Amino acid sequence: MVCLGNICRSPLGEGILREKIKKTKVEITIDSAGTANYHIGEHPDKRTIENALKHNIDISTLKARQFSVEDYDNFDLIFVMDSSNYSDVISLARNNEDVRKVEMILNRVYPNANMSVPDPYFGGEQGFENVFTILNNACEIIADSLNKSK
Ligand code: 4NP
Repeated sequence: MVCLGNICRSPLGEGILREKIKKTKVEITIDSAGTANYHIGEHPDKRTIENALKHNIDISTLKARQFSVEDYDNFDLIFVMDSSNYSDVISLARNNEDVRKVEMILNRVYPNANMSVPDPYFGGEQGFENVFTILNNACEIIADSLNKSK
């Protein structure tokens, strides 16, 4: 899961997907990263932690890191939150195999629409709940497809 800062959207996506995968027999590594270096080493934004906790998901111990080219070697699927994350991640791709790993996460819900998960960082509490609803829906679809392809 990749966003800009790795403190709002992608750590929430990581936490939600982990909870959903826990309920299956699928064994995968789930992680998140940011394209920017602003928040490296920081825990998720307080508002994201609180929002996730409201839904019984604890992401308080996660720490932000920056996406790097090695992530292409370590992961099979790379879900980005918005079109600018997409360009930033694709700019590090070394070949077509890398490019094929990258998907706009909402294309799993609305195929080929290239919709972005809105960045809640500069907004109010409602923005965080909105992101939760959006990512919860997308992660349900992702978890189902991983479970079926097992
Ligand atoms: P995220 O949100 O990409 O969902 O983690 C943001 C976090 C921090 C900033 C922007 C977006 N920032 O400009 O510091």
